[in-house]
Amino acid sequence: MSPVNIGVLISGGGTNLQSLIDGIKSNKINGQIKAVISSKKNAYGLERAKNNDIEGFYVDSRKFNDNIDFNRKILKIFKEKNVELIVLAGYLKILSKELVKEYKDKIINIHPSLIPSFCGKGFYGQRVHQAVLDYGVKLTGATVHFADEGTDTGQIILQEAVKVYENDTVETLQKRVLQLEHEILCKAVELYCEGRLEVKGRKVKILEG
Ligand code: GRF
Repeated sequence: MSPVNIGVLISGGGTNLQSLIDGIKSNKINGQIKAVISSKKNAYGLERAKNNDIEGFYVDSRKFNDNIDFNRKILKIFKEKNVELIVLAGYLKILSKELVKEYKDKIINIHPSLIPSFCGKGFYGQRVHQAVLDYGVKLTGATVHFADEGTDTGQIILQEAVKVYENDTVETLQKRVLQLEHEILCKAVELYCEGRLEVKGRKVKILEG
């Protein structure tokens, strides 16, 4: 199979992006990252793209009349690069209905909790882990899912759990969950690029390799 053209959306440090880059370089992922678009000018993820000869773009949402036009700019870049799969890797902006429709079942998101817990509007980054600690759950983890028009509501592809320890802080928990994110995001993209993810209603079936 020819490599899948991947477009990555970021807003921060880009460690999830880096795990994808490494997965491609180690031939685990049959894909090639054609563009990295950041919603933040100084996102270190853009540096990671540059260091790996991947074209990076900063798209300033303030330069657009509304979220629809902002997303149209993103769509234009991805279409020009023949992107077939979009990966949201620590991306903090809302996708437009138009973009989600154009890439139905072709947008993968990583979230640092076991969806449907601790997700949705306002649950991102360290806020997720703080809510986990405040609630007192004994397990948390990471979820990779297809993005739909909601926030963290698309069909779940993979999940992995970690224990929450009494002496955990937001930082220690985030570090442990981030490692999981890298693993399952790469696995999900690997499966996608092998054509092994079948979406049926709310369910995602992983087909035999
Ligand atoms: C992390 O908190 C991760 O849980 C979430 O986005 C944040 C930044 O990730 N997905 P990254 O290092 O920019 O990939």
